[in-house]
Amino acid sequence: MEKLKVNGNEVTISEFDRPLTQEELLDRGKGADILLTLLTDRIDGDLMDAIGPQLKMVSNYAVGFDNVDIKAATDRQIVVTNTLSTEVNEAVAEHTWAFIMALARRVVEADEFVRQEGYFTGKGGYKGWEPDIFLGTNIMGKTLGIIGLGRIGSMVARRAKGYNMTVLYNKREPDPESEAELGVKFVTLDELYKQSDFISLHVPLTDQTRHMINKDAFAKMKKGAFLVNTARGAVIDERNLVEAIESGQLGGVALDVFDNEPNISPELIAAPNVILTPHIASATIEARNKMGEQAVGQILTLLSGQKPENLVNPEAWPARRK
Ligand code: DGY
Repeated sequence: MEKLKVNGNEVTISEFDRPLTQEELLDRGKGADILLTLLTDRIDGDLMDAIGPQLKMVSNYAVGFDNVDIKAATDRQIVVTNTLSTEVNEAVAEHTWAFIMALARRVVEADEFVRQEGYFTGKGGYKGWEPDIFLGTNIMGKTLGIIGLGRIGSMVARRAKGYNMTVLYNKREPDPESEAELGVKFVTLDELYKQSDFISLHVPLTDQTRHMINKDAFAKMKKGAFLVNTARGAVIDERNLVEAIESGQLGGVALDVFDNEPNISPELIAAPNVILTPHIASATIEARNKMGEQAVGQILTLLSGQKPENLVNPEAWPARRK
């Protein structure tokens, strides 16, 4: 924020340590030339109009930008930027792997078991080594299905090599370059569901991907498969997910993002084979520092009259508002 306060720039900062309501956003944003937003801020056409015709940029402090109506911004010649970087991608890929390992080896469940009430009086669950408690599954040699082989999906795939996994992927078009580099194989979604022991989601949230992981998808998955979501919550239909967990169709699920954030279905909260983290896949010091630098840097770039690097809607640039 200090970096923005140069050349007489007037900077208004939300005083709340929580997401803003639309009214608060408008109240603080009205008359602004530029908005620096979080993924919890819903920036739609109505808000853009209410903020005023001087609004020329939305700098979104996130890689995902489903909170901004990009078409509405482009129609109004407002440029939108995100904070895509290697640091963020690596952080999300690493969190994905933390999830895969924690699911396979039941790390969270086992930790809770050790800490059970009664541990200090010998009345807890953990009494000593036993051959068959918390049996997990090996990762080595298993099949990993990646839905969305973009930058993050590719980083997840690269790490699977160390476990000698078969890596299948699905994206809009086959990607021969990634296949040669990563040894991954393009398959249809049906095939990916059928063959994968672990499935990881790396697609953006769009009209096409909303609830793509639904009843039909779960029914096609291998019984006992593990699902990981570090993308966007609404890619999974959470009601159908609850059924898949309760019926045992899924062996477990790890979620960093939720269909209706921050609300989570009580059945998921209660299930032992569900791991939940509070949308922190990119929460490393390296990634957050980079995100801050980029969100601010792109604003300063625009103010200096140059084109920001991470333009989400480059088509808005030529006729952009000055
Ligand atoms: C992103 O960048 O889109 C993450 O979900 C939040 O950091």
